[in-house]
Amino acid sequence: MTPPAPAQDWINRVWCEDALAGLARIPDGAVDLILTDPPYNLGKDYGNASDQQTVADYLRWTEQWIDAALPKLKANGSLYIFTTWRFSPEIFVMLKQRMAMMNEIIWDRRVPSMGGSVRSFSSVHDTIGFFVKRKDYYFDLDAVRIAYDAATKKARSRSIFVGAKWLEVGYNPKDLWSVSRLHKEHPERADHPTQKPLEIIERMVKASCPPGGVVLDLFMGSGTTALAAKRCGRDFVGFELNSDYCAIIEQRLAAQEQEQEQDAAVPAPAKKKTASKPAVKKPAARKTRRAAVPEDAAV
Ligand SMILES: C[S@@+](CC[C@H](N)C(=O)[O-])C[C@H]1O[C@@H](n2cnc3c(N)ncnc32)[C@H](O)[C@@H]1O
Repeated sequence: MTPPAPAQDWINRVWCEDALAGLARIPDGAVDLILTDPPYNLGKDYGNASDQQTVADYLRWTEQWIDAALPKLKANGSLYIFTTWRFSPEIFVMLKQRMAMMNEIIWDRRVPSMGGSVRSFSSVHDTIGFFVKRKDYYFDLDAVRIAYDAATKKARSRSIFVGAKWLEVGYNPKDLWSVSRLHKEHPERADHPTQKPLEIIERMVKASCPPGGVVLDLFMGSGTTALAAKRCGRDFVGFELNSDYCAIIEQRLAAQEQEQEQDAAVPAPAKKKTASKPAVKKPAARKTRRAAVPEDAAV
């Protein structure tokens, strides 16, 4: 008789605790993708001191969580990490000693031109590292290709292009991603200072986690990775220190689930095409001190 599968009580949960402690809940080799957005150490107030460390402490801590997280990855797994140009050189070297680097992706936050620095060039991007464990890593480019617009297709209507596969399947998103940050009025926006757009996280999930696979985010914030995983038919697990943010995650996930149930109940032709803002109540602002933040701190 086959023994029953072990209970996976760690999955599809955001644990409201320190990631370093919580990682012990996850069996080694159980995760397809680590997709994480740690504090950038730019002085933000997350209701904890994680973004306000000395440089030496920050880099030591980063190396510590990387070493604790990597054993959780499957052999064909991948890792994406959001960071800032201020620390990407050190962090990428750490990761290159442990994994193969596939891309440095630049997220252009589409920041409008308004004043800005006077002694240097205004920083308007975040740096994302894409790393893999070994050569036969999972990667589904077709899931994230971008369709050519009608004008491009028409311009390529000459006989030599007819039936061209690349024209039909769309193009590689490349390594420069221009996606607007979530400003205060953005329909997706929750009450978290560095919430990332679903569009970006979903692209990573679709490309680098097989359907039904598991995505791990050590630093969930407002839970964008969890929402993206569910929207793409993947499982998730993650951690978040701040209990206010944990509450936001629960609300966002519940609202999304409700929306998906409503969509499923609507006959196909009348279905809404795009995801609208989940009805998430913003909690009252916390009365914690806001540290001075350099202008390149992503929002
Ligand atoms: C950059 S934010 C993540 C934002 C997230 N990607 C989103 O879209 O909302 C980093 C988060 O890590 C949390 N954090 C910091 N140190 C942590 C730790 N040791 N364990 C778990 N969470 C931590 C912070 O409270 C913060 O919410």
